[in-house]
Amino acid sequence: MDYRELAKKALQAREHAYVPYSQFAVGAALLTQEGNCYWGCNIENAAYTPSNCAERTAFFEAVKLGEREFKAIAVAGGKQAESLPLAVCSPCGVCLQVMLEFCNPETFEVVLVQDEDLFSMHRLKELIPFGFTQKNL
Ligand code: THU
Repeated sequence: MDYRELAKKALQAREHAYVPYSQFAVGAALLTQEGNCYWGCNIENAAYTPSNCAERTAFFEAVKLGEREFKAIAVAGGKQAESLPLAVCSPCGVCLQVMLEFCNPETFEVVLVQDEDLFSMHRLKELIPFGFTQKNL
């Protein structure tokens, strides 16, 4: 699967977002080293803090099913009513921390999607350069 296809899956995932409080819809598509793809959307809650970001929804689905080797994640987010192209939506710090748990920051790529033909790629290390990992323990 190429990154254009992954970007498209993130945009499709975004359509499933449950966002009655922020109206900010995010979709994520996570690619494993073997080529499997898992998707997630953000799921909000009236109590706010139980809300889950799209990226973590995708990661937890994949990890639950035994996946441990990841290549890239595409993220597409913006106001629910917004038309494409979206503004860049970078993963929050909590999601970057979850990525660090399972991915090599030197090689794992975060694909920031504005449209299926408009995206940029960033190594995880660029987004969280001094992250706390198992190596720090
Ligand atoms: N959100 C994500 O799902 N992923 C991101 O990368 C940034 C923020 C969600 C959390 C909340 O439901 C909404 O977007 C507004 O912050």
